[in-house]
Amino acid sequence: MLKQTLLKATEAGAVQLRHFFNGTFAISNKEGINNLVTEADHAAEKAIMDTIQAEFPDHFILSEESGELKQDSTYKWIIDPIDGTVNFANGIPICCVSIGIEKAGKMIMGAVYNPFMNEFYFAEKGAGAFLNDQKIQVGNKTTLIKSCLVTGFPYTYLDAPNGPLQVFEKLIRKGVPVRRLGSAAVDLCWVAAGRFDGFYEHKLQAWDSAAGFLMVEEAGGKVTDFKGDYYSPYQPHIIATNGHIHDELVAVVNGGPF
Ligand code: IPD
Ligand code: CA
Ligand code: CA
Repeated sequence: MLKQTLLKATEAGAVQLRHFFNGTFAISNKEGINNLVTEADHAAEKAIMDTIQAEFPDHFILSEESGELKQDSTYKWIIDPIDGTVNFANGIPICCVSIGIEKAGKMIMGAVYNPFMNEFYFAEKGAGAFLNDQKIQVGNKTTLIKSCLVTGFPYTYLDAPNGPLQVFEKLIRKGVPVRRLGSAAVDLCWVAAGRFDGFYEHKLQAWDSAAGFLMVEEAGGKVTDFKGDYYSPYQPHIIATNGHIHDELVAVVNGGPF
């Protein structure tokens, strides 16, 4: 039932993404230049929340545009109605609906759907990660220098010492390809699918990574904070890799030599 509702809610959100994509929609600005929210974000969020609440009216919901809908429940749905809104607003088809479900504080299920690339990712704790129903597995590169990475840049907070630009520069100067797709949820799914060997980002919110980090873990990868410790989506730092290059990437992100 939980899984069915998750899939249904993700699809309901994606219907709104398809409806508005490349059309005309209202856009407004949040904190920071170009930190956008569109009419499509709100419509997708409503469709997702309506679907969840129809089945589970007593579950806790945390959603990017509406905040917390507090309930005394062991279940918590964590929703990003559009991850990659800037891409979406510019007609760039790298964006998705992302929904994670926590039970008693542990992520147990996640779905990420990019309807423009026809890629539906699903993960369940202990049962694996899937792309369009096919099991996926992280990549097998063993050295950072041979890896293909992805990162993202926050709308604010770029100039901190050893911040996003410095880490990026260090990797790029060594010739390591570091892509920037503009959707943390897609980045994580692409690590899970073995397209990237690693992803790191300095300032994410719980809704950006909730479903994606489970996807990486269930595909056999490793996800930690910047210290290399247990990952919680309620703190900003993330390093997600195929496992083999994890310690090397943790060291570089912390300003170590490379
Ligand atoms: C953003 C994307 C982006 C990341 C930003 C997020 P949004 O989410 O995930 O890749 O770099 O930090 O805020 O605003 O498109 O939902
Ligand atoms: Ca997001
Ligand atoms: Ca969003």
